Amino acid sequence: MNEELIRSALGVLDNSYAPYSHFHVAAAVLADTGNVYTGVNVENASYPAGICAECNAVAKAVSCGERKIRAVAIVGRDSQGKSSGYVSPCGICRQVLREFSVPQELKVILAKNVGDYKETTLEELLPASFGPESLG
Ligand code: THU
Repeated sequence: MNEELIRSALGVLDNSYAPYSHFHVAAAVLADTGNVYTGVNVENASYPAGICAECNAVAKAVSCGERKIRAVAIVGRDSQGKSSGYVSPCGICRQVLREFSVPQELKVILAKNVGDYKETTLEELLPASFGPESLG
């Protein structure tokens, strides 16, 4: 399952639009329906308008009617084309993932490639989070 999700993310990494940072990121989210949705970072000449890969994958899933995410795999490649480090989701992406998951149950897979990945949870990355339940 982890490997399949990593493969899905790697499969769209070339679609990443990152002409400014040259840092390419792709994500694949697994919804509770079993469907997988991918996303890439999409940068913009007006830098703050850029969108992260994880946010795009979540937006795609939600746009297709999904409301619960079980796992996310994230892969990256730098300007040299190397996947030298594990790409950890930024703060905004963590909060976006939080909206559609149970933090203790959401698997976050940080992958260099199919055979080299670290697995954590959203709870570890975003402890004591604020989510939909917090609003009562
Ligand atoms: N990026 C992501 O797509 N996801 C993250 O969680 C970290 C950063 C993107 C944003 C920007 O296009 C590039 O990586 C460099 O920050």
